[in-house]
Amino acid sequence: MEFFIDTANLSEIKEANEMGILDGVTTNPSLMAKENIFGKENINKHYRQICSIVNGPVSAEVIATDYKEMVQEGLALSDLHDNIVVKIPMTAEGIKAIRYLSDKGIRTNCTLVFSAGQALIAAKAGATYLSPFLGRLDDISADGVGLVAQIRTIYDNYQFSTKILAASIRHPMHITQCAEIGADVVTAPLKAIQQLIKHPLTDSGLAQFLKDAQKGG
Ligand code: G3P
Repeated sequence: MEFFIDTANLSEIKEANEMGILDGVTTNPSLMAKENIFGKENINKHYRQICSIVNGPVSAEVIATDYKEMVQEGLALSDLHDNIVVKIPMTAEGIKAIRYLSDKGIRTNCTLVFSAGQALIAAKAGATYLSPFLGRLDDISADGVGLVAQIRTIYDNYQFSTKILAASIRHPMHITQCAEIGADVVTAPLKAIQQLIKHPLTDSGLAQFLKDAQKGG
């Protein structure tokens, strides 16, 4: 399973990258705003900086909602760096844009996915990645992990090559549950990735080992 970090924060991206387990980055307009990155030039500069840190796919989201403008914006984003994957929302216009970019050999990430039907359409359009938002489904008492399982079955039934990129991850259990199901990629905040490492028995066991190592001088 590939690990992406879901942030536009450069320090967090560097920290995750230095752990040696990072395969890519996902961003969205809200994550960019959180870092106070506004305006086309600043945003493009920020994407280039992210691409210089991580040697892997970096999802950059279009702001346009109209097919032609999405395609234009997507082409410009993909020109920024070889690592850029064009992130496009799951709408009728977005699906047309995914089809167009996919036919041009440009990688896409279909975002804001909340149902198996949407996943089926995105795969048919040739999306490289599909981003079901687990946490946001859980927030409304729906089953985010269950949706990932349903999509896994559908994609396996027809050997769709679209990669399931589980997003809107809230805690480490989401990550392990996605791994059990066979999600291709998980994109998570740094905290959830770090929480995978922690276990109280590891901490207490290590403390005891170190204490014992001091015995006898
Ligand atoms: O990549 C976007 C997605 O992960 C959003 O997460 O936490 O805003 O639901 P969240």
